Amino acid sequence: MSDSILVAEDEPGSAEYLRLLLEGRGHSVRLASNGVEALLALEARPFDLVITDLRMPSMDGFELLSHLAQRWPDLPAIVLTANEEIEDVVEAIRLGAVNYLLKPATPASVGAAIDRALLTRKRPSVASRTVPELVGTSRAMVEVRHRILMAARSDVHVLVTGATGTGKELVSRAIHTHSGLAKGPFVAHNCALSPSDLFESEFFGHRRGSFTGADRDRRGLLREAHEGVLFLDELETLDLGFQAKLLRVIDDGEVRPVGAEKAERVAVRFVAATNREARVMIDEGSLREDLYYRLRGIEIKLPALADRREDIPLLIHHFDKPGSAGFTPEAIEALCRIDLPGNVRQLRNLVQGARAAAGDAIVGVRHLAIETGQGAARGAASDGVPRGLTLREIERRAILQALEDCKGNRSQAAKILDIDRSTLRRKLQEYGIEG
Ligand SMILES: Nc1ncnc2c1ncn2[C@@H]1O[C@H](COP(=O)(O)OP(=O)(O)OP(=O)(O)O)[C@@H](O)[C@H]1O
Ligand SMILES: [Mg+2]
Repeated sequence: MSDSILVAEDEPGSAEYLRLLLEGRGHSVRLASNGVEALLALEARPFDLVITDLRMPSMDGFELLSHLAQRWPDLPAIVLTANEEIEDVVEAIRLGAVNYLLKPATPASVGAAIDRALLTRKRPSVASRTVPELVGTSRAMVEVRHRILMAARSDVHVLVTGATGTGKELVSRAIHTHSGLAKGPFVAHNCALSPSDLFESEFFGHRRGSFTGADRDRRGLLREAHEGVLFLDELETLDLGFQAKLLRVIDDGEVRPVGAEKAERVAVRFVAATNREARVMIDEGSLREDLYYRLRGIEIKLPALADRREDIPLLIHHFDKPGSAGFTPEAIEALCRIDLPGNVRQLRNLVQGARAAAGDAIVGVRHLAIETGQGAARGAASDGVPRGLTLREIERRAILQALEDCKGNRSQAAKILDIDRSTLRRKLQEYGIEG
């Protein structure tokens, strides 16, 4: 607990506030009023953590970070920043900062950030420079890989955006795998599945008997994800009330299970994913701007596959059975040309379907379940569809089947059908499947 912390902050009031707060948590604190003073202090004795303002006279926070990266690369640094300077954060992280605190920093947010910084420090990171699970050499993918590693090196919460099937979950898992929290849990939670009245019990857990229906203890997502990553999928489905609660959870780092007397501290890193543009959601009022600022320490935008078609041949190879006969140039070309609204997931399904259809032989255009200029290809699956049905009826049955397979879970059903949730909703209405 008695970790020593160096605080570089030129504004006396803010520096004194941090000193009291940190000493109150049992840390030993040394104040410096600019970067030069901070460097001198570091030469004099070792510290466990640096907290630095960005705007300071003589030597600012950015320059201090550059020196730290050169001379004390293992020393974690957290930067202080104002809301409107959020763009600075990305630059600070690029320079090696592990996290940021928005001014005025609440005691809870300072505590949470420090706990995580010290935690990752004690757990040496995998320190890999590549992200082998991500296939693609396009410029866009190189940038995505770069951002994943930047996120992995740091401690900030991450927002991953991109259309359906572009790899948001894959990227989120990669951040965990390559980060200092890799040995900790990765807990995935789909926001669309949150029952509307059970936020507290879902996130904080509960004690048995604390309310009707609570027939056993529940750990709750935050405690499950302690010292690891909590992945919040389909953030766009979280209503505004929950967003406010979530914001508090992210800031606090403290959990009191429903019915429990004492609160527990948790160190959790959040990675959220959404298939919508954050800016659009903020403008239409469906995403709280303050939540967005908390979550997007780093934002990773995944391109549609149509914007990186040069990666398609590599992806085909990646999804094909290892050691198989491969695809004909014509088949590869056909896949490079077609519309792929379901992005990488759709390509994967097409490749695997074609492989199943071709067996051990080389895959040709005729094995692809797509419409091509050379005539409609056969479906990859030859079993199944009864004769004499209208296309509408086939679609209706496919939807019912998918819903049944997913026990009514629409998000999962939409995934199987390779359409987005709003399309599924529309079709359910159209077919009168749901009122
Ligand atoms: N760059 C990539 N390299 C290799 N596989 C990829 C890549 N991107 C996506 N995939 C694969 O594509 C499939 C879909 O990816 P993922 O589930 O991460 O998408 P998503 O963005 O979360 O989709 P959704 O919005 O529908 O939830 C997965 O099988 C994933 O492994
Ligand atoms: Mg997903």
